[in-house]
Amino acid sequence: MDTFTESAYAKLNLSLDVTGKRTDGYHDMEMVFQQISLKDDVTIDIEPGEGIRVFSSLRYLPGGRENIAYRCAERFLQDAGLSGRKINIRLDKRIPVGSGLGGGSADGAAVLRGLNRYFGGPLSSEELLRAADSVGSDIPFCLTGGTALAHGKGELLEPLPPLSGCAFVVIKPSFSVSTPELFQKLDSVRVMLHPDTEGMVSAIRTGDIREVGRRLYNVFEDALGREKSVVDDIKNSLLDAGAVGASMTGTGSAVFGMFADGSSADAAAENLSGMWRFCESVRPMNGQL
Ligand code: C5P
Repeated sequence: MDTFTESAYAKLNLSLDVTGKRTDGYHDMEMVFQQISLKDDVTIDIEPGEGIRVFSSLRYLPGGRENIAYRCAERFLQDAGLSGRKINIRLDKRIPVGSGLGGGSADGAAVLRGLNRYFGGPLSSEELLRAADSVGSDIPFCLTGGTALAHGKGELLEPLPPLSGCAFVVIKPSFSVSTPELFQKLDSVRVMLHPDTEGMVSAIRTGDIREVGRRLYNVFEDALGREKSVVDDIKNSLLDAGAVGASMTGTGSAVFGMFADGSSADAAAENLSGMWRFCESVRPMNGQL
């Protein structure tokens, strides 16, 4: 039996805009993604035989086809034309579930990346990205990582220069959000404000952390119900603790603050950690594919 462990890094949405509804039921997006150092460990065992099994440090996570990691392994074997392998996947979860931090997508991307490397690269980068997109909209970004502008469902990616020097504090309140439900809710509200994506991209290109911080914005915050006040409270706590900006990530419920340097993020996380069950200081990651 061969065993290896792959790191699965979480993502933040520095900005998130929904620009329209598509005929396939999905939404057109314009997002700036940032990969962060918060990660799950994905351990893969490969032995002769058949079948895919997923185990997790969180008992309530599904082990079958409902798990993104399972579907990524299945899709990889199919696309690479491989059979006669039994694949066991163990997920050691540190990325909070139902948080908008892309934990499931990161695990799926780690499975695709790890299996492709183990089998000697049967799929090209483009083929891996296509496989990722067929399983979930955020998985292509989790494969490429770093900082990127995304269009389409989230699969059309344009890499951006790395954000260096800054840091983030990520806080997850006790409630979780269902992604399809929040997309549905957004369809029924009038979005009053949209992020300045172009301004965000220029600020990233010039490396101006304060200008990036000022433009952090997520339209899903307008679709939240009574949870909005919790998200606003966390954002205010992060700003009071010295963040240059704060926003919810993805469909939530995690909220993050951006800090000009690592030591101010560490100090803020220490001060705020007593108030929230999940509160961590993290760093931006550079791309991988
Ligand atoms: O692609 P993924 O499986 O991650 O999407 C989960 C759900 O989020 C979809 O079933 C859809 O309801 C919603 N979604 C959307 N538009 C996108 C991405 C996701 O409506 N661009």
